[in-house]
Amino acid sequence: MSTSAEIRVFQDPSALFHAAAKEFSDQAQSAIREAGRFTVTLSGGSTPKSLYSLLATNADLPWDKVFFFFGDERHVPPDNPESNYRMARESLLAKVPVPPANVFRVQAENPDAAQAAASYEQALRDFFQTPVSGFPVIDLVLLGMGPDGHTASLFPGSQALGEKSRWVVSNWVEKFKTDRITLTLPVLNNAKTVMFLVSGKDKASVLKEVLEGTQPASQFPSKLIRAEHGRLIWMVDQPAARNLAGARP
Ligand code: 6PG
Repeated sequence: MSTSAEIRVFQDPSALFHAAAKEFSDQAQSAIREAGRFTVTLSGGSTPKSLYSLLATNADLPWDKVFFFFGDERHVPPDNPESNYRMARESLLAKVPVPPANVFRVQAENPDAAQAAASYEQALRDFFQTPVSGFPVIDLVLLGMGPDGHTASLFPGSQALGEKSRWVVSNWVEKFKTDRITLTLPVLNNAKTVMFLVSGKDKASVLKEVLEGTQPASQFPSKLIRAEHGRLIWMVDQPAARNLAGARP
């Protein structure tokens, strides 16, 4: 577990999402002041929907200077109910004046998942203009965590956990019997800030293992997120934090 991790526990989901929305907005304003743009990778699943809906009410952000990417994507077309892009579009992207050119979705409709991953990596390389051997510095990486400790689409025991050079890979996820496309650890860990959003009592046991446990990180991939050059923030609510040492009884 990164020693520099910040763990912020909130009374309930509403407090968690309001604080996360403020963190997002503060970081965006700061990045835009300093560099003229803010780059963020969105996470999928259900937890971030409430954050995205809150962000959609923020009329003060210069949305034309925000550039959206995805930490991972299911191997489905963009209009599929499983699509992380569809969830983000419906809860946020269609509700704010962000230029379509600022939204970089994974073309997961491609029947060849590996090709979809490769073309997404090229799109990122074209945008970030990073030296071939380097990794992009994303301003904010949003992540969730599954009950099995996975994050993005980096699942326990996945080959993708060992990827050291590619930015985006596809990997077969046996439990879901499908391919998933995901940013790799070198990219996620190169971000300026990584912010986990974890809510609900069904995450309490896995959160305790990830933050305090000693089981192998390969079985709990969220343990492998370290934000090596930046901030790692865990935004969690009381129900999710209830098993942590020091948590209020
Ligand atoms: C996805 C996400 C994934 C998600 C976790 C938690 O594509 O599903 O990127 O990593 O963050 O599975 O999902 P919930 O927030 O729905 O619990």
